[in-house]
Amino acid sequence: MRVVLLASGRGSNVRAILNTAQQHPQLLCVVGIVTNNPNAEVLKIAKQHAVPNFVVRVIRQFDRLSTRLDHERRLVEVLSTLEWDWVCLAGYMRILTQDFVNRFSHPVWPVSRILNIHPSLLPAFKGVSAYERAFESGVKVSGVTVHFVSSKVDEGIILAQEAVPILSTDTLACFKDRGLGVEHRLYSNVLLALANRQWTVSHDPFQIFLGEGV
Ligand code: GRF
Repeated sequence: MRVVLLASGRGSNVRAILNTAQQHPQLLCVVGIVTNNPNAEVLKIAKQHAVPNFVVRVIRQFDRLSTRLDHERRLVEVLSTLEWDWVCLAGYMRILTQDFVNRFSHPVWPVSRILNIHPSLLPAFKGVSAYERAFESGVKVSGVTVHFVSSKVDEGIILAQEAVPILSTDTLACFKDRGLGVEHRLYSNVLLALANRQWTVSHDPFQIFLGEGV
């Protein structure tokens, strides 16, 4: 299964997926890494792993929508040069338009071919700074979600979730570290399950359940 990874920053999820692909070359191949941020750490990781990498900068146009459309047009150009099954967002700090998401719809399922990882148990704590908001809210359990990307932010159909406890002794940094560890394992396991075709789906409403171990 071929994936393109989109990331904007540190790239720890990208690194984890690259490591998984290295361990399971017959199942998973990272065919490209794309960033909107020319200074992103993730570019160094891409180069270390000799994965084709692309910077698609955001170039300001006369209004926000034009800026977004111009950026997505160049992103589509890059994606069309690669052969891929899934685009995986991994800390990609851009909201995608409905047109962009619709362009990459799944051939069989009523979802897009774009996945995202979000550091909360969706639908709780959608949006930015989810670790911080969960930690400050007083909840005792938060978590991590991998979902299909839809045109609404952090609202697509859920593929997998895992709880992450917030302990009485935690600092925010401890809690985030624990969560990141879960992110790295969960995203990789979801990709391996998809590659292994370990899923059951049900319709009306569409739901997907991945195999044991995810
Ligand atoms: C992760 O917490 C991810 O869930 C969120 O952004 C962060 C990216 O971290 N969407 P990294 O760049 O993968 O280290």
